[in-house]
Amino acid sequence: MLKTLVKMESQVQPKLIIHGGAGSSLKGKDGVEAVRNSLFKVVEEVYPLLLSGATARDAVVRGCQLLEDDPRFNAGTGSVLQSDAQIRMSAALMDGERSRFSGVINVSRVQHPIELALILQNSDDRVLSDYGAAEMLRELQVKSYDPMTDLRLQEWMHERQSNFGKKMPGVVSELYESKLSQSRTIGVVALDSQGRLAAGTSTGGKGLERIGRVSDSAMPAGNYATAHAAVSCTGIGEDIIDECLAARIVVRVTDGLSLQDAMQRSFAEAQQHNRDLGAISIDATGAIAWGKTSQVLLAAYHNGQQIGDTLEWTEDLLTGCI
Ligand code: GLY
Repeated sequence: MLKTLVKMESQVQPKLIIHGGAGSSLKGKDGVEAVRNSLFKVVEEVYPLLLSGATARDAVVRGCQLLEDDPRFNAGTGSVLQSDAQIRMSAALMDGERSRFSGVINVSRVQHPIELALILQNSDDRVLSDYGAAEMLRELQVKSYDPMTDLRLQEWMHERQSNFGKKMPGVVSELYESKLSQSRTIGVVALDSQGRLAAGTSTGGKGLERIGRVSDSAMPAGNYATAHAAVSCTGIGEDIIDECLAARIVVRVTDGLSLQDAMQRSFAEAQQHNRDLGAISIDATGAIAWGKTSQVLLAAYHNGQQIGDTLEWTEDLLTGCI
């Protein structure tokens, strides 16, 4: 009895934050409400897992799978097409407790790239690219899966007509007439009841990119965690890499800055450099924070008391926290 009480006292209130990208506008047909419903559905499925003792790592993987399955977001099903009309996806998982990163780069024909990142957590070779990832899929006998949706194909055809004049595909998959613009990627960050942190990120990439382009999502620039903090980024991969954003925030917290200050300082620098990006984060004390230099950040969280989101957060502030 005493043992149970001691264990309960040592438990931590789990925390969860997820994102479905960042970009310039959510004013498309049923934009805000539809995205909110999609994000809340994931939070409502994943947060109870943390309450029932799931590890941060497993909760992150489940959250990423659900977001990869939602064709609204640019990861897994609904990924954007590259310049040659192919889908190549990237995903990473970082276990903060073990300080261990794993990921896949430009993998095709798989439903859940994040699952490959999970499997690679226990491999000697922890980041695999295209051929290696395909070989691994064959070895594991993972069923081939086509993540292409009609909307993403239409979007690509539309861009082709204008000779790829538009720089980026939509922040979420909707008819291209809605002129949603920019950004990509899904991500999940969790703190579990034992105080462990993890971060996961998955993406179809920038869209219309040349073959071989490597996304930030499967780099420590876009996804990073230690025992002190965990971060998942979204936005233009090149901008995220130039800022080394996820690692920059986490290292600042690991060196003693509060999460809020680390986010504020890192986003002020990113804005000074005219970057287009966003990030979600949690630290070991249970603080949840988010930040963006883009107009909107599609994030939702559960802090143990309530579910909230950042969808209508368009103030000039670069960062927010709860
Ligand atoms: N942040 C996703 C990408 O640019 O590939």
